[in-house]
Amino acid sequence: MTAYNPAHLTVLDHPLIQHKLTLLRRADTSTASFRTLVRELSLLMCYEATRHLPLETVEITTPLETMLSKQLAGPALCFISILRAGNGLLDGMLDLAPFAAVGHIGLYRDPETLEAVEYYLKLPARISDRLCIVVDPMLATGHSAAVALTRLKEEGAKNILFACLLSTPHGIEHLKKTHPDVSVITCATDPGLDDHGYIRPGLGDAGNRLFKTR
Ligand code: URA
Repeated sequence: MTAYNPAHLTVLDHPLIQHKLTLLRRADTSTASFRTLVRELSLLMCYEATRHLPLETVEITTPLETMLSKQLAGPALCFISILRAGNGLLDGMLDLAPFAAVGHIGLYRDPETLEAVEYYLKLPARISDRLCIVVDPMLATGHSAAVALTRLKEEGAKNILFACLLSTPHGIEHLKKTHPDVSVITCATDPGLDDHGYIRPGLGDAGNRLFKTR
């Protein structure tokens, strides 16, 4: 197993998260349960990913008196989904942060060159001022994630965090090498990566399980 810097990585080893991840991995979990679990896990990942958002002090009036209290300082954070499976993580994140902006990036792998080619990009304004939480359920080889991060930086993103349900040491190492400034939040790191780019033992194809395709 390749060594990686744990400071670059947060593994959410909370009991509830590990329990839900076990249910998610099971081949006999229904599509409906899979979607609910992904929503719940992404909400919990969002809680951790937003831990360091800046706050400002405002004066408010409670039913009894005025006080100084904290609120998030703008501009709002944004979630950027790597299509298509990343979309599965958006609902849970938006449950917790409904004020967030949302962007999408789509990449496909050219069968000849094996290079990641961008086919879609739509981003919120002022991404340079926002915390950008990039979401994709599976960090396998890390190649398409790295290409997506490079593209987002070209568009001005400076403060980026990558959130995934499952990762591999290879994927984490690749992101650390290509984007050492980007922190990774994951629910677990699995040891294997097979010849087809699937995480082992993993949970299968996240996009197909979310969208009931094959
Ligand atoms: N994408 C998936 O959906 N599953 C994997 O195991 C790897 C990449």
